[in-house]
Amino acid sequence: MSNDDDFSRWILGLPKAELHLHIEGSLEPDMMFALAQRNQVKLPYDSVEAVRAAYQFEDLQSFLDLYYAGADVLRTEQDFFDLCWAYLVRAKADGVVHAEIFFDPQTHTGRGIRFETVLDGLAAALKKGETELGISSRIIMCFLRHLSEDEAFKTLSQARPHASRIAGVGLDSSEKGNPPSNFARVFDACAALGWHLVAHAGEEGPPEYVLEALDVLKVERIDHGVRSESDPALMQRLARSRMPLTVCPLSNVKLRVFPDLASHNLKRMLDLGLNVTINSDDPAYFGGYVGENYLQVVHALNLGRDDVLRLARNSLESSFVSREVKAGWVKELQQHR
Ligand code: ADE
Ligand code: ZN
Repeated sequence: MSNDDDFSRWILGLPKAELHLHIEGSLEPDMMFALAQRNQVKLPYDSVEAVRAAYQFEDLQSFLDLYYAGADVLRTEQDFFDLCWAYLVRAKADGVVHAEIFFDPQTHTGRGIRFETVLDGLAAALKKGETELGISSRIIMCFLRHLSEDEAFKTLSQARPHASRIAGVGLDSSEKGNPPSNFARVFDACAALGWHLVAHAGEEGPPEYVLEALDVLKVERIDHGVRSESDPALMQRLARSRMPLTVCPLSNVKLRVFPDLASHNLKRMLDLGLNVTINSDDPAYFGGYVGENYLQVVHALNLGRDDVLRLARNSLESSFVSREVKAGWVKELQQHR
């Protein structure tokens, strides 16, 4: 057993939270095929291998086109349950003790699937994950930013009867040309429900979008945020406020935000005191779950034990659970030092 193997095992065993995971992005090609068969959906691929081979992306939009097409196999409550359960089992192997999962209701309601079909399936899997795997969780509903504010309000009215089962709201999909400020009013309405607020910003879009997410939407976490680096004043502000950034390194390379992991700015941000966390985004499409994101980043950026402990601690402390629960996890984390 080499030191490298020991280090990897130690990393995977650390208690950690995953805070940026699109549940539709955990749809593995095998399950895509199985569900297509179960629901008699015709896929534009002949085999699981052909699906994997198609996962070569030029940018965010080229990924989103395949991701929305793949989600078409998800039809029934059982499908959403199976999807979410498979994610939780996989996350458990990576030391995940808490997951805050995104779902995109509009991707499904736009195809005639009921909001409740999606939410009930996910919620049932998350409940089982808590009792059988010991993984606690929260659900965050995202608005698709390529759709209108009006459509976001329609989705909010579908969600209202279930407000107590939803912890927060996010903003995802095509970033460029769809600034956070377009969703100011609907985010205000979500804040009035007591929901937590997050938004994708600074993935492909400019630092100005991160500023809008902070100042107009009043978010508590920034999803991605890596493109903040070109604005030093913003970087200082993020560091000073300890604003959580849910960074997704393998996603950033697959979608060509960075040419390779060695050029990723995660270590630079960490060294500047930013509250960086590691997450998988859409693991079935980007080549790895959260553990693999940790391992590859550690290798590419030469991170040490203290960096890894910091990243795991940031993830636990940036979650939407009580102070007491966080303190318990951090204590457990410290036993791994
Ligand atoms: N939806 C799923 N993954 C996404 C990403 N990386 N950026 C924006 N929207 C998304
Ligand atoms: Zn994302």
